[in-house]
Amino acid sequence: MARKQKTSRWFVRLGLLALGYAAWREINRRVSNNPQVSGQGGGSRGWGLVTGASSGIGTEFARQLAARGYNLILVARREARLRAIAEELERDWGVTVRVLGADLSNEADTARVEKEISELPDLEILVNDAGFGATSPFIEGSIDEHLRMIDVHVIAVVGLTRAALPGMLARHSGTIINVSSLSAFVPGPTSVTYSPTKAYLNNFTEALFLENKGQGVKFQALCPGFTVTEFHDTLPDFPRSRLPVFLWMSAVEVVRQSLEALDGGPVIFVPGWANRMIAFSAQSLLLSPFVRLGASMVRLRS
Ligand SMILES: NC(=O)c1ccc[n+]([C@@H]2O[C@H](COP(=O)([O-])OP(=O)(O)OC[C@H]3O[C@@H](n4cnc5c(N)ncnc54)[C@H](OP(=O)(O)O)[C@@H]3O)[C@@H](O)[C@H]2O)c1
Repeated sequence: MARKQKTSRWFVRLGLLALGYAAWREINRRVSNNPQVSGQGGGSRGWGLVTGASSGIGTEFARQLAARGYNLILVARREARLRAIAEELERDWGVTVRVLGADLSNEADTARVEKEISELPDLEILVNDAGFGATSPFIEGSIDEHLRMIDVHVIAVVGLTRAALPGMLARHSGTIINVSSLSAFVPGPTSVTYSPTKAYLNNFTEALFLENKGQGVKFQALCPGFTVTEFHDTLPDFPRSRLPVFLWMSAVEVVRQSLEALDGGPVIFVPGWANRMIAFSAQSLLLSPFVRLGASMVRLRS
């Protein structure tokens, strides 16, 4: 009996040691992949263009791409913010950063960004990140917000991608990241336009990947779950505090995982283990009713 207890204590100790070692390896891996530590800066990687770069995930893409050595064009409506970010990146990483104020729900502004893209001789990475959420039922409020969402999430992305792709294909080099959402897998109330626009991005990106396979261009539809940014600030009744902490990710981590996944990761990429479980369950015949019910409860409470 005493011997059995002794053996099981050893197993517990060994288990704890293994857990500790795994945690230490994970922390090390994250630190060594942190662009603040391992970045090269200097503009040596060609140009990148990031829409929605004035806050949240877009700003973080700009930071991590600058750290990896890309010169950048930052696009959003709030130009003053973009200029401050540009100054920071030029100072910290020695890259060249240009600012392009544009409202991507406006056809003429989107056309200006497309022109900028097609005139660049070496656009290496395009990040279509600009976007916003909504919490009201489809029938309430004006139709304009829904149409604006389609313009920003879909029409602008299609236009910018069309402008970027020919050059990338000709050079056999380039990357297009379309920032989608976990919501693409879970349609439901108050998300009547948001979810379908993101589902379009997933389908669009995967189709582009299949159409251009083996030609040197990488595609990714990035599907974040709840991410700490300004996104939910514009949704005043969003029940942020009622959501469990493990469902939230930082923009730093979302972008770090996205860029890492470009090397061999899936085209439709979901960052974070909790989000991956939700995406998997949402696509499973057995579990999807529960995921949809859970998502509807969160959305209807907001
Ligand atoms: N945060 C989340 O929980 C979450 C989850 C899943 C997916 N996402 C997606 O992630 C992307 C980035 O969102 P975020 O979380 O980083 O939110 P955020 O902090 O609110 O940033 C949104 C960005 O989009 C830009 N934008 C919005 N409307 C625009 C327009 N008409 N023209 C040009 N730029 C516009 C904003 O810039 P200006 O206001 O300066 O124009 C801002 O830079 C979005 O596509 C969103 O759908 C976010």
